[in-house]
Amino acid sequence: MVDEIKIVGVVGAGTMGMGICEVAAANGCKVLVHDINETFAQQAHEAMAGRLKKRVIKGKITQDQADDITKAVKVVKSLDAFQVCDLVVEAVVENLDVKKQLFQQLEQLVSENALLATNTSSISVTAIAAALQSPSRLFGLHFFNPAPVMKLVEIIKGLKTEETHVQMAKRLCKQWKKIPVVAQSTPGFIVNRVARPYYGEALKLYQEQMASIIHLDTVLSKAAGFRMGPFALMDLIGIDVNFAVSQTVYREMYNDPRYKPSLIQGEMVHANQLGRKTDEGFYPYGETAKKAKPDYLHSDAQFDRFTVPDDMTFLSRMFSEFEYDQRQWQGDKIIISGCQLVMSNGMTAKQVEKKDGMPTCLVDLSFDYMKAECLSLAFSPKVDVFMKNRIVALINHIGKDVLECPDQPGMIANRTIAMLINEAADAVFNGVCSEDDVDLAMKYGVNYPKGLLAFAEEIGWQHVADTLEHLQHWFGDDRYRLSPYVRSQL
Ligand SMILES: NC(=O)c1ccc[n+]([C@@H]2O[C@H](COP(=O)([O-])OP(=O)(O)OC[C@H]3O[C@@H](n4cnc5c(N)ncnc54)[C@H](O)[C@@H]3O)[C@@H](O)[C@H]2O)c1
Repeated sequence: MVDEIKIVGVVGAGTMGMGICEVAAANGCKVLVHDINETFAQQAHEAMAGRLKKRVIKGKITQDQADDITKAVKVVKSLDAFQVCDLVVEAVVENLDVKKQLFQQLEQLVSENALLATNTSSISVTAIAAALQSPSRLFGLHFFNPAPVMKLVEIIKGLKTEETHVQMAKRLCKQWKKIPVVAQSTPGFIVNRVARPYYGEALKLYQEQMASIIHLDTVLSKAAGFRMGPFALMDLIGIDVNFAVSQTVYREMYNDPRYKPSLIQGEMVHANQLGRKTDEGFYPYGETAKKAKPDYLHSDAQFDRFTVPDDMTFLSRMFSEFEYDQRQWQGDKIIISGCQLVMSNGMTAKQVEKKDGMPTCLVDLSFDYMKAECLSLAFSPKVDVFMKNRIVALINHIGKDVLECPDQPGMIANRTIAMLINEAADAVFNGVCSEDDVDLAMKYGVNYPKGLLAFAEEIGWQHVADTLEHLQHWFGDDRYRLSPYVRSQL
């Protein structure tokens, strides 16, 4: 194996290929790029120079840096030029046969010490490697789009991948200022597997008529703290692309109900309503499109004294600005005008009201209640208009919007986050990746505000387990079964 990667070959000059060229060139490597369509490769090289120019204008890089990167990347007509490469990264069309054929050709061409990597996002690295005489040479180097911007790279170990190659790939990613995580070759690797419930639960909630699309998106972004709501995100990714990944993961997981694709998504694809690229997805786009608005509750009602727990809790912290305020009493829970405010743990507000003998307002989960722009609430039957108005007024007073959702178990964000945590936990339980790597992957691959396992520690594993067990009981669906990893944390 080579000691240092100096010359990199990239096959495929599409979105990912050119992004990878730029990353390698910006970090001191010489890069050769080859595409089956040479004219396209030349145009892609010019387009890269154009993008770099824009970064110079924005003051992000200097003209010299842009020139150096552009000059370091050379388009080559034939794969024969790759003989000098220390590493070849494949970023051609997502097709197993094409990739196999290409690596068979590359294996004959490059030096026996050179490393071979695939940027596949969904094909088994083991299956691609099986075409090689030395399958131990191949590993996955899964960049995220846009490669020059996104920090995460998943290094994928096929069944026969040599460990020293994985270590070399890790060092290289760090040299390229990326954050590497290591995953076994399994469906969806880390990010595309663990993120499935973000779309899957949102689609299921919509199908169950829990709330409108804009309501669900607003709860998950402005209340929970995800950067983008799942429906807006699916419109951006392409509903067909997202549906294809969901179907692949479901099929390759042998129809595990956790990954079951949505009928709604299938219908959207049938209608060619694919998101931004067709000007219509879950939202309308185009010039005349109107922006949807959620139905916030507002109240100007006066509120007087309310009670908060003596010890600040994850939820009550958001009232900390009232800390020395005479309007606040100390007690053992948050009580506003005779109604208790509790975090949803998978029970309905009605069930909690019955258990505690008190009118109940459930608050949906947020990664950080202090930062949340909005709170999502569900009320039990005994919460009257007077109580409701005072609760809404108090929350409006601390600068947050309020959305009311129907009293269904787990609410919206709590149900989604519990499922995401369960998925992250299960990936670790099944040896896909380490605890540290699953948290890094979701933070840097899809910009989650916190690592999922770290967040479970913060809110308590019991909360996650309770939520999932209530959901499993309510729906009678194995989809919500607890990962043994979650159970082991209790
Ligand atoms: N687009 C993404 O968001 C993304 C993210 C991560 C990984 N990936 C993976 O990266 C790979 C490339 O994706 P992309 O989005 O850049 O695709 P793309 O369609 O933009 O580019 C693919 C390029 O490969 C070329 N090509 C096809 N067959 C070839 C061959 N035999 N030899 C040489 N060139 C060939 C095509 O001409 C095309 O220019 C796929 O495996 C994909 O799954 C994509």
